[in-house]
Amino acid sequence: MTKIKATNITWHEGHVSREEREELLDQRGALIWFTGLSGSGKSTVAYTLEHALVQRGHLAYVLDGDNIRHGLNKNLGFSAEDREENIRRIGEVGKLFVDAGIITATAFISPYRADRQIARETVGEGSFFEVFCDTPFDVCEERDPKGLYKKARAGELKGFTGIDDPYEAPENPELIIDTSKVSPQEAAVTICGLLESAGKIPELND
Ligand code: ADX
Repeated sequence: MTKIKATNITWHEGHVSREEREELLDQRGALIWFTGLSGSGKSTVAYTLEHALVQRGHLAYVLDGDNIRHGLNKNLGFSAEDREENIRRIGEVGKLFVDAGIITATAFISPYRADRQIARETVGEGSFFEVFCDTPFDVCEERDPKGLYKKARAGELKGFTGIDDPYEAPENPELIIDTSKVSPQEAAVTICGLLESAGKIPELND
């Protein structure tokens, strides 16, 4: 639970509404929340999706776990508490991006169901699309893009998700993709279809 320390603060409303920003951008703010093991393809699909959306003339942006941990969340490690705070902050940042009208993709392992649920509630049902990168564990370990599975197997890295730290799979994600079967481009097309159906972006031939 986050301890509230700020007192004597007042909420200010601006003069421009979310709807006005969305009108300007010809899109609706949305958050595509990728979750899955390290090496499951979250970042690759997120960046492919961002590119596909921008090519279609939309404003999109990726918040990526490794990158955010270089700055905003550099003071957080990988304990359950720190992962919770990591995801809480990303839920809050995601909410701001969505309010700005931006189609945002987040690529964080986000291993705990309860933390992802809080992010969903923070951003708001209807604007939150959970995409589970359900790539088989063996494929993730085989890919090992950062050599971290190897380190964890050798006992040089403790608390690595999927080895000696838990991953709680989503029960009701908006989409499941297995990146050992589907290319990033195919996944991006499917997600664009989801965004179209939800009225977040116009259909291509509109
Ligand atoms: S999360 O669990 O808090 O959502 P996040 O997505 O931000 O994790 O960061 C995961 C990335 O940190 C991995 O892709 C990997 O490169 C790196 N990492 C370093 N230590 C660990 C660890 N113990 N468990 C998982 N990932 C780790």
